[in-house]
Amino acid sequence: MKRRIILLGSTGSIGRQTLDLVREFSKKFKIVGLAGGNNWQLLKKQISEFRPKFIATNRPEKFPNQKIISFNKLASQKCDLVVSAIAGVAGLPPTLAAIQARNSVALANKESLVLAGKIVMNSAKKFGVKIFPVDSEHSAVWQLLEKIPREKVRRIILTASGGALRDTPLSKFPKISPQKVLRHPTWSMGPKITLDCATLANKAFEIVEAAHLFDFPLEKISAVIHPQSFVHALVETTDGNLFAQMSLPSMKLPISLALFGGERQEDSVAKLDLVGRNLEFRPIEKNRYPLFFTTLEAAKRGGIFPAAAGAASEFFGKKFLAGEIAFPEIAKLTAKSLEKIQQKPANLKNIFATVNSFR
Ligand SMILES: NC(=O)c1ccc[n+]([C@@H]2O[C@H](COP(=O)([O-])OP(=O)(O)OC[C@H]3O[C@@H](n4cnc5c(N)ncnc54)[C@H](OP(=O)(O)O)[C@@H]3O)[C@@H](O)[C@H]2O)c1
Repeated sequence: MKRRIILLGSTGSIGRQTLDLVREFSKKFKIVGLAGGNNWQLLKKQISEFRPKFIATNRPEKFPNQKIISFNKLASQKCDLVVSAIAGVAGLPPTLAAIQARNSVALANKESLVLAGKIVMNSAKKFGVKIFPVDSEHSAVWQLLEKIPREKVRRIILTASGGALRDTPLSKFPKISPQKVLRHPTWSMGPKITLDCATLANKAFEIVEAAHLFDFPLEKISAVIHPQSFVHALVETTDGNLFAQMSLPSMKLPISLALFGGERQEDSVAKLDLVGRNLEFRPIEKNRYPLFFTTLEAAKRGGIFPAAAGAASEFFGKKFLAGEIAFPEIAKLTAKSLEKIQQKPANLKNIFATVNSFR
């Protein structure tokens, strides 16, 4: 029997790569639902190729002959796996809807766990739903933790490429253009995550994501810059061993592992030959990546703060990409807006109110 897949964010980078795998393994998977945002032209092409039963889009007027349903309704349809790959805070409601409908989730939308990590993970537990990581770092940790007893893990270390501005002189930051920030040195991804890599908010999000996914203390998860992006994560055991997962920087492997529920496929990616390669590791500098520290600090405060940090940096990030503010303002304005936030319990009402206050 083919595994029935619902794909949220099918027109994005993760969405398109997921469909590449569905094409490659067409005997194993069937697309039953597709959801795109504004790129209706690509969604139309995907619909005519994959013939999904259910469709959601932000541009329903472009699909007059099709029945369009809401994103939440789509995520709630019966299937074997929902791939949650909408970018940003918009990914949370359908991810929760999928879990509440008892659908397993391949989670690319890390923002769901930044905004509402406890709620998402508790719901998954309550409804007996499996969550498979799609992020390469979390896929790496998942693979490493399969081999290491949890009580023997001392630390988890995620790697970061350092983003497009890793080697740019700080003096140039005020005049940096969105185009330059969106030129990622090792990964090809959507605009939000590529910008989040340059500010390194992305890595703080991933630390939060790892803490929730693996039920591991936030304080015992750290990050290091690794420009080559061959090592995706490391796990340190209590006896001082350090285990690393390595592969070429391609999302094919983590998406494939998530689609197949952890089952490895033969020769699924190009081999990484280490001969002649350098592996370099650098600390994360506060003056280059202030948003990493602000976001992590917010995560440590808990309550409504991680959601506020996620929503604020997304809001100011969009302003930078639209040419309305300078790059350093993203971190400054996020920090400033967090100063005004009053602590509240992280229930859905407060989380959505906080997210909506940044619209
Ligand atoms: N790309 C990667 O390699 C990578 C790696 C790890 C994790 N992730 C995570 O995966 C998620 C997707 O990233 P991506 O790089 O694939 O982003 P992307 O290329 O920008 O694609 C985002 C997808 O979400 C849709 N979307 C955006 N806003 C929406 C909204 N308000 N309502 C409905 N749909 C909306 C977009 O639709 P339209 O384009 O049609 O508007 C598109 O299909 C993010 O959470 C990211 O952090 C990505």
